[in-house]
Amino acid sequence: MNAHDTAPVPPPGCPAHGSGARVPLHGPEFAADPQAYYEYLRHYGAAAPVELAPGVEATLVTDYAAALQLLQDSGTFRKDARRWRAFNEGKVSPDSPVAPLLAYRHNCMFTDGADHLRLRQAVTDSMARVDTRRLSRSTEQISRYLISQFAARGSADLLGDYAKQLPLFVFNELFGCPADIGDRVLFGISGMFDGVNAEKATEVLFQAAGELVALKRAKPGDDVTSWLMRHEAALDDEEMVHQLALLLGAGAEPLRNLIGNTLHRLLTHERYAREGGLIDEALDDTLWENPPMSNYAPHYPAADTELAGHQLQAGDLVLVSFAAANTGPALKASRQAGSNRAHLAWSAGPHACPSKEPARHITVTAVEHLLNELPDVALAVPEDSLAWRPGPFNRALATLPVRFTPARATRPADARPAPAAEQEKAAAPARPAERGGMWSQFLTWLTR
Ligand code: HEM
Repeated sequence: MNAHDTAPVPPPGCPAHGSGARVPLHGPEFAADPQAYYEYLRHYGAAAPVELAPGVEATLVTDYAAALQLLQDSGTFRKDARRWRAFNEGKVSPDSPVAPLLAYRHNCMFTDGADHLRLRQAVTDSMARVDTRRLSRSTEQISRYLISQFAARGSADLLGDYAKQLPLFVFNELFGCPADIGDRVLFGISGMFDGVNAEKATEVLFQAAGELVALKRAKPGDDVTSWLMRHEAALDDEEMVHQLALLLGAGAEPLRNLIGNTLHRLLTHERYAREGGLIDEALDDTLWENPPMSNYAPHYPAADTELAGHQLQAGDLVLVSFAAANTGPALKASRQAGSNRAHLAWSAGPHACPSKEPARHITVTAVEHLLNELPDVALAVPEDSLAWRPGPFNRALATLPVRFTPARATRPADARPAPAAEQEKAAAPARPAERGGMWSQFLTWLTR
């Protein structure tokens, strides 16, 4: 631990007060004010002892230079979670709420060296084939559909009704999901991240991904699934299912939060509204100051080692705080000097996000289209009453309630007043059904 002249004061509510204990990143206090926690953690030096869930200990790198050193040294710091000592020793239960995002799976996120290179190349090359114009068209279509579900109400929760749904619909389109498989993909991914029966949701997702692979083997299409399976890396069925589940899982939650956090920024900072047309800038500012994946990039030292003055043992869990590194004093100067994309929101090194271009494109299109359709959209509650979902990894609003002038329906079918029971259902947060669900309804809407 680095010595400091002034004694650090833990943020309010932090049980580290006076006890010298690990700093918990899983409570409502952390979700309410993460920057106060990062400020406190910086007093430990480049890295600090944290707790990700009760009993799950980790070292969190908060300094930009140390973060880059770790992310770029894949010989010393490995991604293969089978090296996680505490998990192997049974100190972390497979039922822990953080296990789904940390436990090993055979995909490019949890592999190293040649294995990683092969899986990642297949993913990168397939995502690179996504045509930008097609992506714009489908994102706009999905955006229009989602807005049509609430436009006449004059109020909405832009998280539950929009930011959460849109990425899942876009993925179904990109991956070539027919109605019944797409419904189960929506059901599976939503359940995994909402923690509502996560085990059943994971099972449904993997089953649906397996069926999609079988379908595309028999009848390839013009979609990411088919490109991935025809890639020269020659992925087998099991590898296909794992890469598809990773793309959906690694994409859906951060993309929902990138859209949500960018909308939040636009609705709470006068400047963007006043100057107009600054969506790109709001997006970059979000990536700097409120990145959707705030603390992640789990790594494990291959042998006992040292990082920026901190001793680490082989198999220790080490994470990077992208949010703390981005907002640390060292980076302020670089940002002020005009280096606008030097932030770590997409991580860096061999495991950096391979989909940042499509993710940016989907976000800008989704936000732009919403603001065009609902030009007077405004926050419906005081800013300081907005709640953020607890958890160490994602910076995620729980809801984003807004109001706007009710829009007139653009299609005759949207204008029909819904029966009272349906209106009630529409006002409640959408919960995907496993069958006959939201993807089927969207496909039906498209053909009306
Ligand atoms: C189209 C949506 C997205 C897809 C399909 C996607 C996919 C992926 C994949 C497959 C990886 C693993 C790469 C590897 O380990 O070699 C990854 C890593 C990562 N992605 Fe994305 N992503 C998406 C959107 C986002 C967004 C919106 C963010 C946040 C701004 C983000 C941040 C990251 C970060 C920080 C990592 C590194 C994680 C780590 O090292 O453990 N991604 N992404």
